[in-house]
Amino acid sequence: MCEVQGSYRPILEEDRVSRTPRRLFAATTALATALVALPLTALSASAAEPHVDNPYAGATQYVNPSWAALVEGAATRASDPALATKMRAVKTQPTAVWMDRISAIAGNTAGNGLRFHLDQALLQKQSGTPLVVNLVIYDLPGRDCYALASNGELPATAAGLARYKTEYIDAIAAILADPKYQNLRIAATIEPDSLPNLVTNISHQPCQQAAPFYREGVKYALDKLHAIPNVYNYLDAAHSGWLGWDSNAGPSAKLFAEVARTTQAGYASVDGFVTNTANTTPLVEPYLPNPSLTVGGNPVRSAKYYEWNFDFDEADWTAHLYNLLIAEGFPATTGLLVDTSRNGWGGAARPTAASTSTDLNTYVDQSRVDRRIHRGAWCNPSGAGIGERPQSTPSGYAGSHLDAFVWIKPPGESDGASTDIPNDEGKGFDRMCDPTFVSPKLGNQLTGALPDAPLSGHWFEAQFVQLVQNAYPVIGGGPSPTDPTPPSAPTGLTAGSVTNTSAALTWTASTDNVGVTSYDIYRGTTLAGSSATTSFTATGLTANTTYSFTVRAKDAAGNVSAPSAALSVTTTGSTTPPGGCKVGYSVNSWNTGFTASLKLTNTSTTPLTNWALSFDFANGQTVQSGWNANWTQSGTKVTGTPVPGSWNATIAPGATVDIGFNGTHTGTNNPPTTFTVNGQTCALA
Ligand code: BGC
Repeated sequence: MCEVQGSYRPILEEDRVSRTPRRLFAATTALATALVALPLTALSASAAEPHVDNPYAGATQYVNPSWAALVEGAATRASDPALATKMRAVKTQPTAVWMDRISAIAGNTAGNGLRFHLDQALLQKQSGTPLVVNLVIYDLPGRDCYALASNGELPATAAGLARYKTEYIDAIAAILADPKYQNLRIAATIEPDSLPNLVTNISHQPCQQAAPFYREGVKYALDKLHAIPNVYNYLDAAHSGWLGWDSNAGPSAKLFAEVARTTQAGYASVDGFVTNTANTTPLVEPYLPNPSLTVGGNPVRSAKYYEWNFDFDEADWTAHLYNLLIAEGFPATTGLLVDTSRNGWGGAARPTAASTSTDLNTYVDQSRVDRRIHRGAWCNPSGAGIGERPQSTPSGYAGSHLDAFVWIKPPGESDGASTDIPNDEGKGFDRMCDPTFVSPKLGNQLTGALPDAPLSGHWFEAQFVQLVQNAYPVIGGGPSPTDPTPPSAPTGLTAGSVTNTSAALTWTASTDNVGVTSYDIYRGTTLAGSSATTSFTATGLTANTTYSFTVRAKDAAGNVSAPSAALSVTTTGSTTPPGGCKVGYSVNSWNTGFTASLKLTNTSTTPLTNWALSFDFANGQTVQSGWNANWTQSGTKVTGTPVPGSWNATIAPGATVDIGFNGTHTGTNNPPTTFTVNGQTCALA
């Protein structure tokens, strides 16, 4: 596992594949055949339960006895009886089972196999109560492409992918499809870090090489696992300190959607997303509730620690991500999970109040509960503690659409070795795990990793002791700093009148919005404005464009609620005459191919940003690949958008950009007649 922030690289859109509705119930052929063979009485008793929206609702979760035995060993060795008691309380918690190599399926020296765990889960399951087994799918070819600590056994080659499919995914799917396990709910965390690495680290050669295999491998895993009705797919979505920036978040949601659309069931093959897998990013930063609060004249989010990222914690990131996913076409039922196994940050170093410093960086450093030296420090970070206990549908995070808090990384298992340890698991030595290393990726600071760590996945007792000691909430209750209680998120967002340049929003104050002095309104994650009443008019919007809004309540002390559920607003058509833009289209056509060159001019007096140039093809032409823009096609409609962060993302008044693409046609190749930019019709050049 690794965590990285990095520069953004564009992702090319793939052709859209038609969406299929979310599956409610489907029986595999194997399952159906098995049922047919049963006598009628047994049939009704053993019929698999339907695929539900949230598998965790009303369910218990599997407690891994192998991990529990390691915890019991630590408790036996603990010299402090109070600590031993806490460890024994931790021992009863559910943790995920990692299929981290092919031999883990059958069982190996590192642990018991998949059937062992499923059989144990059947023993733990109480009649009438569903039970979820958390399973991690983690063996892609070229695994952990931006780090070394969790490099895997399969190379990023066609041969590696073939083994991934047949020896790994097929082998796991065959076991999961055994009718014996049909009444277990299996929640699969799909390939931690893989797609996020393709968003932020695609300039790194091993990630470039792994990219096609990650896409194809994840698609294959989604297809095979979705075909089993009692399996639930949760794609890994990194964490707020990695993907939170708008320039990473948008492309991530797009990539997730692209990969989902390549699967047989489309969006329906993804039940949800899991964030913070094996990371330590806090669920909430209670003393930094408002990223736009100014200290010393600058917003808190501009502090060195947050680097302008709006998302300080996983509550922020999950709400942000959910909105983006829905905008990409994922169903509203998409559920989020947060790995809270190590993001507690309790203990003596946890702040108990916001700082009073007027220096921005000091203010942030003294107020944050995340005690890492940098948000990119991912390996065995010193000072971390166990976080929220696993639970389904946690309340208080309306905008996040949480299915559950889960413990995906089993507390006490190392993230990577702090020195070079020879091994036969394919794991490398990553200096991010070395406490003596000054890392350029962490602003040239020491890594803050714990010393004497074993290989990733191996038991690391010193870390386990610290995680238990620094748990927040404290294990077994007891004194813990009382975090401020934020107000409740506003409810019932509705849009009033919507015009092409403004959208009036209203919402309902929650009954416990007592003491609320104002509301912050976010468009996406960007602060769009504030309101002292329960209404707000967003201005400066573009015609015929869909925007997503959330609202947070703020009390007099500055505490901010979790985001409300989002409202999407589509502005109406423009009444302004053409003239804001001008488009020239020339085509070089042969047989069934052609090259189209476009010139887009901003003829208005303000910079043109976030442009989306659209037109329709009348003769069934198809866009193949383009340049200087990302092109998508849906039916006849073609849309070009700037490659995020690129030179032409903003077009200055009077400036022209050259963009284009190659396409195919079937003989007739008439040029489009109307071009629009953000819904406004452009003049023809
Ligand atoms: C390791 C895996 C291990 C997992 C859970 C990962 O970092 O690479 O081998 O199973 O952590 O501890």
